[in-house]
This record gives sequence, C-alpha cells and structure tokens, in this order.
Amino acid sequence: MNARIMGTGWKLPVFQADNEFLSKLVDTSDEWITERTGIRSRHLARDETTASLAEGAAKEALARSGLKASDLDLLIVATITSDTDTPSTACRVQAGLGASKAVAFDINAACSGFLYAVHIAEAFIRSGIYKNALLVGAETLSRLVDWKDRSTCILFGDGAGAAVLTASEEGGILSQTIASNGAKWSTLSCMGRPNQNPLNPEKTAPGYLTMDGREIFSFAVKTVPVCVEETLEKAGVSKEEVKYFLLHQANQRIIQSVARRLAQPEEKFPMNLDQCGNTSAASLPILLAQLDRQGSLQRGDKLILSGFGAGLTWGACLIEW
Ligand code: ACO
Repeated sequence: MNARIMGTGWKLPVFQADNEFLSKLVDTSDEWITERTGIRSRHLARDETTASLAEGAAKEALARSGLKASDLDLLIVATITSDTDTPSTACRVQAGLGASKAVAFDINAACSGFLYAVHIAEAFIRSGIYKNALLVGAETLSRLVDWKDRSTCILFGDGAGAAVLTASEEGGILSQTIASNGAKWSTLSCMGRPNQNPLNPEKTAPGYLTMDGREIFSFAVKTVPVCVEETLEKAGVSKEEVKYFLLHQANQRIIQSVARRLAQPEEKFPMNLDQCGNTSAASLPILLAQLDRQGSLQRGDKLILSGFGAGLTWGACLIEW
C-alpha cells in the first residue's frame, strides 16, 4: 500500500515583521538580510502558540482531505518549539480536532522534522498498521532565538503546515532517503532551560539557538544534491521528470546553489522564504500547501521534498501527487 497526500493546510501568525522592523532591534539592514538570505519578512507569533498554529494548519488539511478527525489513526507533530515539554503538541492538536482514535506524538528533527514524520507515517501505512495519518510541522522559533543576536534572529519565522496521508493503491511517496549525523550536533543547537537541580547550583545553559552559519551553509549545498539524486535513483525517476523541487526554506543562496549543482532551472525551485523566513519543520509543509492552493499541482506530478537542519539531520522524498 502506498501513502498518498490527500489534503494540505497552513497557518501563519498575523503579525509580519519586515527587515525594517528588525533593523530597529539589532544592528542590521534590509539590504544585508535580503542579499545574504533572500528573506524580506517573516511572521512572528504574538498571541499564537505552536499548538494553535498546528491546530489551524491541521484543521485545514483535514477539511481538504475529505476525512473526518475520527478517521485518523496517527497524528505526528514535528517541532523543536513545543509550548509544553509535556504533553506533546500532537496530543493538544488531537484534543483540538477530536481525533480520539489517533496515536499522537511529537518528533524532534529540526528542519528535517516534516520529512522524518513522512518517513514514519509511510512505514506505518505501507505495512498496513495504520491507514490515515495527519502530519504537522509547527514552530514558534521566535521563542528560541536571541533577539540581541543579529546573526540568527533575522533568519527565522513562525508558522505551521500540515498534510493528510492515506493508504492508496498508487502514487504517493515513491522513495525516500533520511539521514542523521549526531557527531555534528553542536553546529546548530539550543540548550534549553538551565539545570536548576541542587547538585548544579552554578551551572546555567545559554538557552538560545546558536549556529555556525557557514558550516550549515556548506553542509546543505553539498548534502542536499546528493540526497536528492539518491532518492530519484531509488525510484528510477530522472531530474527532468520532476516538476518541482521543494527545499527547506533556509536561504535563497542555498537553494540557488543546489539548483546549479543539480543542473536544473531555478523556476523548478519554488520559494516562500522572502515572506516566511526559515520556519524549520514547518517550512516544507507550508510551501507544499501554498503550491497546492495555487493550483500548481496536478495528479501525477512528481515532486521532490528535501530538508536539512540541526542534528545534523537531512532527507528527501519523491512524491507522485
Ligand atoms: N546584519 C548585518 N551584518 C551581519 C548580520 C546581520 N544580520 N549578521 C552577521 N553580520 C556580519 C557579521 O558580523 C560579519 O561581520 P564581520 O565580517 O565584520 O565579522 C559579516 O556580517 C559576515 O558574517 P557571516 O556570518 O560570515 O555571513 P555569511 O555570509 O556567512 O551569512 C548566514 C550568514 C546568512 C547566516 C549564512 O551563513 C547562512 O545562511 N548560513 C546557513 C544558515 C542556515 O541555513 N541555518 C538554518 C539551517 S538549519 C535550520 O533551519 C534550523
């Protein structure tokens, strides 16, 4: 049995912070941010939470899939910014939807999180254990970044995207490649809350997201093309047969470099990072849902989704729409 996407949705916070807005917070400029990243604006949560964004995207995806909440067997939220350490965001979305039959849990694979969720759901659907899965990538990265650090705070945005996968005789996920390299964990990390147990009175953790931008850049441009080629080869599909390559929306220069390395025209690499920034696990499902809504995807179209991020983690999947 194949796993096929039947509905998509996305939800962004109301407030939009353009580069001008950020230049009042840190020593930066619209010119620097646009040239280095392609980002012009991003949505930042004021009243919204990771759970409320996730629920908004999930409701839309479910409505468009034609399924009811009670049909869902599996509900996975990919996030590194759950509002609560416990319970999971997925359990809160389950409650909001009334998806009482679903097994609900979060996964943490940073910007590759949505692809990891696809990997898990596809295995369950292919094996016949579950039939219907709701996958959400949801983040409020504005809570993790240091708003005094110009090298990171300009990159990220908040939002959520979702997709419903269901068992199908044909099409859907054709092949995948998923990988991790924990040896490089410190390249991009966030230490979380300080340890306040009585054995460690002096120890505090930074608590903000820190990143070696150049190393991530070089890792992404080298790894993504290889991973995409490998995924296509597994399915015997050529690059030319792919209508769109949807890459994690981290930086326009990374996407352009991958397009060059794959020798494919840039028009095949849709982008929304100019308006959304890097929304980590939410980036791929938001982009997918927006393309879907524009009417850019027809049944039978072949799409590549590929992401990379903290862990390090990366992956790609080939979809027949
Ligand atoms: N505004 C103005 N100047 C800045 C800013 C800013 N916002 N940020 C850094 N600078 C300065 C630096 O201080 C440095 O100044 P110096 O030369 O006087 O020391 C100069 O600009 C160059 O800094 P670099 O860090 O070398 O700039 P670089 O060209 O590498 O661009 C960037 C930085 C945009 C972060 C780039 O490395 C990048 O995009 N890397 C990939 C990051 C990424 O994609 N991360 C997320 C992926 S994983 C995930 O999504 C969770």
